Amino acid sequence: MYSDKVMDHFENPRNVGEIENASGTGTVGNAKCGDIMRIYLDIDDEGVIRDCKFKTFGCGAAVATSSMATELVKGKSIQDAMKVTNKAVMEALDGLPPVKVHCSLLAEEAIHAALWDYAQKKGIKIEGLKPPKSDIHEGEEEEEY
Ligand code: FES
Repeated sequence: MYSDKVMDHFENPRNVGEIENASGTGTVGNAKCGDIMRIYLDIDDEGVIRDCKFKTFGCGAAVATSSMATELVKGKSIQDAMKVTNKAVMEALDGLPPVKVHCSLLAEEAIHAALWDYAQKKGIKIEGLKPPKSDIHEGEEEEEY
């Protein structure tokens, strides 16, 4: 059911934990299953993401996708991190079973929420970034997988 990469990131998740005095943090919940994800970002003066950590009360697929998502955004500029969508994360993991696709949205939403928090603190605008939704299932119907 799960690819080797998903199993690897589930069994050995990267970047679990928290960052003290993070540049931005984002917490999102999934109304359907009640799972919660929090992302911490450490962003330097050049706008490069130096570190990224996550904590979750999510399922195995949420753990694996968050682990991969944190690996993908580390070292990236904010604009490049905005391109790390749940689709990109799933591709990097060689796919997820269709019933688990919604779990991958937690990481994307939490990263965006953390970037939003950073932008608010800095008083800057990040191109293409929308305010975080408290319910990640809002608007899910419009998404194409
Ligand atoms: Fe809730 Fe996967 S079932 S995040």
